[in-house]
Amino acid sequence: GEGADGVARAPRPAYVPGVISDPKYVRVFDTTLRDGEQSPGATLTSKEKLDIATSLARLGVDIIEAGFPIASPDDLEAVRGIAKKVGNEVYEDGYVPVICGLSRANKKDIDAAWEGVRHALRPRIHTFIATSPIHMESKLRKTPDEVVAIAVEAVKYARSLGCDDVEFSPEDAGRSDPEFLYRILSAVVEAGATTLNIPDTVGICLPDEFGQLIAGIKANVKGIEGAVISTHCQNDLGLSTANSLAGVANGARQVECTINGIGERAGNASLEEVAMSIFMRGQSRLAGAYTGINPVYIYPTSQMVKNYSGMAIQPHKAIVGANAFAHESGIHQDGMLKNKLTYEIIAPEQIGYFRGENDVGVVMGKHSGRHALSSKLKQLGVPMEGDALDEVFNRFKLVAETKLGGVNDDELLAIVRDGESVQ
Ligand code: KIV
Repeated sequence: GEGADGVARAPRPAYVPGVISDPKYVRVFDTTLRDGEQSPGATLTSKEKLDIATSLARLGVDIIEAGFPIASPDDLEAVRGIAKKVGNEVYEDGYVPVICGLSRANKKDIDAAWEGVRHALRPRIHTFIATSPIHMESKLRKTPDEVVAIAVEAVKYARSLGCDDVEFSPEDAGRSDPEFLYRILSAVVEAGATTLNIPDTVGICLPDEFGQLIAGIKANVKGIEGAVISTHCQNDLGLSTANSLAGVANGARQVECTINGIGERAGNASLEEVAMSIFMRGQSRLAGAYTGINPVYIYPTSQMVKNYSGMAIQPHKAIVGANAFAHESGIHQDGMLKNKLTYEIIAPEQIGYFRGENDVGVVMGKHSGRHALSSKLKQLGVPMEGDALDEVFNRFKLVAETKLGGVNDDELLAIVRDGESVQ
């Protein structure tokens, strides 16, 4: 079928680094606390990070990237706190979130990352080095051979610390030579990497291009059966969700994302968009793909991240924006009052946004029609019909012209009262 799938959550397969027993299961890796916190102005305290990590675990995130421990003693402390607390809690169905720390490909960084995550029941070290010509030449000033050697050494070192869950990212993979990617990825898998994360670091890829990159990696990396392919899509062209889904369609089984899509520059793929796309269309369009995300905790987590990070959510943001479940035009309001499925593909309560009873998200504005006004007045305890309704409707329209944000309940009641005093 082509319709909305909305399939109930299937049980989450047991966690084994590098292998997923159910080929349809897609792991969700949240990096709100690492890449998300790299949004200019989005600094979080350790207490806020712990609260967010707790919410992410309740949401069902498989892997929580808790920070970049070498960045500062505070970062290390926050990661350690999350590993000790959230990383030691056993949730529904025996699920324990993996706690991950980021490191560049050097021993000092890897030591700090391990120091941060090692207290978790399921610790992961994530190490990375750039592989695109521009990054290798201008930033690292290293040859491709040197970069391969550094990556292999880093992965081996992480494994030697006793960490059996090691993720490797070739930074700027989106602009790297695919043949070079196959080479470095084959080498790090042999060295013990269990997740290969493919970042489109500058958000340059189009969906078909990113999908082909993932398909190429799946087909050409030696030992790929022992590693999970992951996507990490930035949003510079507004394509991060589409690219992540193209990755899943081509064999990626981990998606990296952040709550509300926060992150460097234009941000990362947003967890709520990717997870709800898979929830809504995974069955019919993505060969049965599903995640362990429990959608009902999406909205509360999104609000928490908004409040703690100070990063406002644009009103028309998919899934969690203030207008995502609001309807202004008369035609849409009329449809919604008759059947909510006319203009809503997701019921707001599915993602944990509870409108009042009988509230179908009608916003009374200048495009609203008589039907919506009549229904709203009934809800406010002042039912009207016939000439009285027409008269209030005319005055409402005059007021609505001047109110950009719509006419709220108190203002509507005032319009009704004004009419009474005139009569
Ligand atoms: O965008 C990026 O390349 C990253 C990597 C460290 C995964 O954030």
